[in-house]
Amino acid sequence: MTASGSAAATALHRLGRAEDIPRFEGRTATVAGVSLAVFSTEHGFVAIGAACPHQGGPLADGIVSERCVTCPLHNRRIDLHTGEVVAGGEGRVPAYEVVERDGDLYVPVSGVDGTPLEREPLEAAA
Ligand code: FES
Repeated sequence: MTASGSAAATALHRLGRAEDIPRFEGRTATVAGVSLAVFSTEHGFVAIGAACPHQGGPLADGIVSERCVTCPLHNRRIDLHTGEVVAGGEGRVPAYEVVERDGDLYVPVSGVDGTPLEREPLEAAA
């Protein structure tokens, strides 16, 4: 699997079982020292940086609707596919691809240091 770049530069890090993340909820995971918030959405699984760009609110505890999560502390709304704050302020968190295989979830990581690879930019929420 290649997220971006050459296959030799990427690998997959297992996050856990897909069934452990209920639809429209988030869970945290740490990959190579990077904290992720992993969500189950109506469009599949996605991951973003775990800390809100405002004051570090726990995004995995936020409310998921459509393709966004709302930070539980001060209600900034963040697009789960781009990491961009789309309402309530400004800012951005990294966004990561999540791969599901046979019920397990994986995130593409650098083959060099194991850190999660940011996903290719997608179209922002309308
Ligand atoms: S910490 Fe998330 S909106 Fe303030």
